[in-house]
Amino acid sequence: MAFCSLPSLSITVWLLLLADRLLHCYSIHQNYSSMFSFGDSLTDTGNLLASGCTSFPSISRYPYGMTYFRRPTGRCSDGRLIVDFIAEEFGLPMLPPYLADRGNFRQGLNFAVAGATALDAEFFHEIGIGHVLWTNHSLSAQLSWFEELKPLLCNTTKECDDYFGKALFLVGEIGGNDYNYAFFMGKNLEEVQTYVPKVVGAVVSATERLISNGAMHLVVPGNLPVGCSPMYLTLFATPNKKDYTKKNGCLKKLNKFAKYHNSLLQGELVKLQKKYPMTRIIYADYYGAAIPFTYSPKHFGFTHGALTTCCGGGGPYNFNPSARCGINGSKVCINPSSYANWDGVHLTEAAYHAMAMSLLHGPNTIPPLL
Ligand SMILES: *[C@@H]1O[C@H](CO)[C@@H](O)[C@H](O)[C@H]1NC(C)=O
Ligand SMILES: *[C@@H]1O[C@H](CO)[C@@H](O)[C@H](O)[C@H]1NC(C)=O
Ligand SMILES: *[C@@H]1O[C@H](CO)[C@@H](O)[C@H](O)[C@H]1NC(C)=O
Ligand SMILES: *[C@@H]1O[C@H](CO)[C@@H](O)[C@H](O)[C@H]1NC(C)=O
Repeated sequence: MAFCSLPSLSITVWLLLLADRLLHCYSIHQNYSSMFSFGDSLTDTGNLLASGCTSFPSISRYPYGMTYFRRPTGRCSDGRLIVDFIAEEFGLPMLPPYLADRGNFRQGLNFAVAGATALDAEFFHEIGIGHVLWTNHSLSAQLSWFEELKPLLCNTTKECDDYFGKALFLVGEIGGNDYNYAFFMGKNLEEVQTYVPKVVGAVVSATERLISNGAMHLVVPGNLPVGCSPMYLTLFATPNKKDYTKKNGCLKKLNKFAKYHNSLLQGELVKLQKKYPMTRIIYADYYGAAIPFTYSPKHFGFTHGALTTCCGGGGPYNFNPSARCGINGSKVCINPSSYANWDGVHLTEAAYHAMAMSLLHGPNTIPPLL
């Protein structure tokens, strides 16, 4: 609780102040009555799995979930995700996935689907790669689910403004897959760059649509440093040392690309905040939260570095497209918390925990979430 600074006074006054500050801080941590999330595999807690998961069956198998749940839950990691740690911070239960048996969801629900895109499937059909999508449940499709379900939570505008005004909305991460599908289908950087304004536009209009539904507190994440992802490092390996950042071994162009998306998104969110001054629109810098893993992995306990997967089928980054984690031929490490990367694309629970802490207590939410 570094943000609760204490003046140096006499010991009694000091203790009284301490008690007051602790209570104050504690109440800040407890003040959302529900949480709703949207996005892709960085946030999905079981929707793709519940929908049959035919496009990515390996997440339904061991070792997915090995660390925390000790069974595959549909989370693309060995354990909990950022969304789980944020819910925990606010004293809320883990968000049930919308498509599964969701029970009582007055405290929140998760609409994110692994493989989802910010843009609708049509866009990918137009550019000739629609057949590779894992799911058609794009961001706008997830918002339609939310709107269909809404009457179960509130009916009148006043009721909904009251209810959703006390909720925290996590809008992403989303958009990473729009680029992944394109890059892996051989589109070049120049072309993929032209999608960025469209993808950012989709994220911003989803945010605005939530505001029109009564949302007041919204966290909108940017993209990860994809140039450090073992999958990209493997598939776009080059013999030219100049293509890599010396200090961390990541691919320069791809990280620059992620930063381009992020700066455009952040700029649009600033405009949206001006348009809706009563709301609180927070940019979550996933790039800034994850990049330190690559510069000083040991500081986070990642003794195997940040660019090698815990679960994979060999190769310089332990990522083998034909023996991915959960598929025959791959092996899982003994201690996932000594790796930042889980399966080549997704991070380990330990890495997501470190990211969540830097979003909640560090400098990576703008303006600060807490
Ligand atoms: C997406 O929708 C199209 C058209 O309705 C359908 O043919 C396709 O199977 C769907 N893809 C997935 C992954 O659900
Ligand atoms: C909203 O209205 C519907 C239909 O009348 C009703 O079934 C539902 O329980 C209402 N929702 C709330 C939260 O009161
Ligand atoms: C929760 O507390 C923070 C910090 O005091 C405040 O900015 C925010 O508006 C509160 N949220 C709700 C839903 O009241
Ligand atoms: C996995 O590979 C091993 C060795 O190649 C083989 O014996 C086994 O049957 C395979 N298992 C499955 C489920 O394909």
